[in-house]
Amino acid sequence: MKVIKEISSMQEISDYYRCIGKKVALVPTMGYLHEGHTSLMIKAKDENEIVVVSIFVNPTQFGKGEDFDKYPRDFVRDFHICEKAGVDYIFNPETDEMYKHKSYTTITVNELSDKLEGKFRPGHFTGVATVVTKLLNAVKPVNLYLGQKDAQQNVIIKKMVSDLNINTIVNICETKREDSGLAMSSRNTYLSEKEKEIASVLYFLLKECRRLILEEKLTDTQEMIERTQKIFEEKAPGFILEYFEISGAEDLEPLTDIGNYKGEILVSLSSKAGKTRLIDNIIFSNQIP
Ligand code: PAJ
Repeated sequence: MKVIKEISSMQEISDYYRCIGKKVALVPTMGYLHEGHTSLMIKAKDENEIVVVSIFVNPTQFGKGEDFDKYPRDFVRDFHICEKAGVDYIFNPETDEMYKHKSYTTITVNELSDKLEGKFRPGHFTGVATVVTKLLNAVKPVNLYLGQKDAQQNVIIKKMVSDLNINTIVNICETKREDSGLAMSSRNTYLSEKEKEIASVLYFLLKECRRLILEEKLTDTQEMIERTQKIFEEKAPGFILEYFEISGAEDLEPLTDIGNYKGEILVSLSSKAGKTRLIDNIIFSNQIP
């Protein structure tokens, strides 16, 4: 496994593999890797000859007062995790390499970036879309692997890839969870044991909402939101529920009556434990196959 620090070297390596007919995959990350990340690497290795994992804590997707400075970083630990997962290259540029000179260009995926997370993190998805474009241009992968954990990020990246004719297939992999149901996240390291225990209620809420739709056949989303909010208040003392929304999984538009809704449904939430923001979601269809 090799560590590449320069964009030009990464591009040369990728061009070489493309030339000899080998498929290159990219798993973009901000490091402090966990089993959610490794599941993407393993899937990528299964489906491609060469796997590149990028490790770059992207400053432009963090807002003022967010956790950029204290975001957990441990390159040596990440190196071993990648090596064990069969990764071929770690692309690990310094900030100066990624943002070498004053940049005049950003990518904004309109409308989709302002909903859900976007309401609480203005500018966040412009940072994400811009850095992912830069990573795609550096690695030029045939396949890109992302986790369902970041549902809105996925919708935005898919749309951007399609709108800008980027020659990469976007693959979404399931969310890896702790036994308690808590979605794995680099930010879980900020939580105390007690907070981790409480945080497991988040996945319970999502499943409860799915149960109300699929089993109790409720169709009024406002009623579902109120019922789940009540459970949250009882079971997650000290936590704040920033949002709990039921929306179309493709356009992220809030749904009011899902009785006749034919598309995939996204139930997503964000909760705060102290300063730590936790997000989670589930996607399902209410159509009987
Ligand atoms: P990061 O939070 O490190 O996540 C990297 C990738 O791992 C994302 O596609 C994310 O959805 C996926 N992932 C995180 N937790 C997961 C879990 N529990 N199960 C499965 N997949 C999981 O997302 C980012 O970094 C950044 O925004 C990035 C795309 C790298 C751009 O900077």
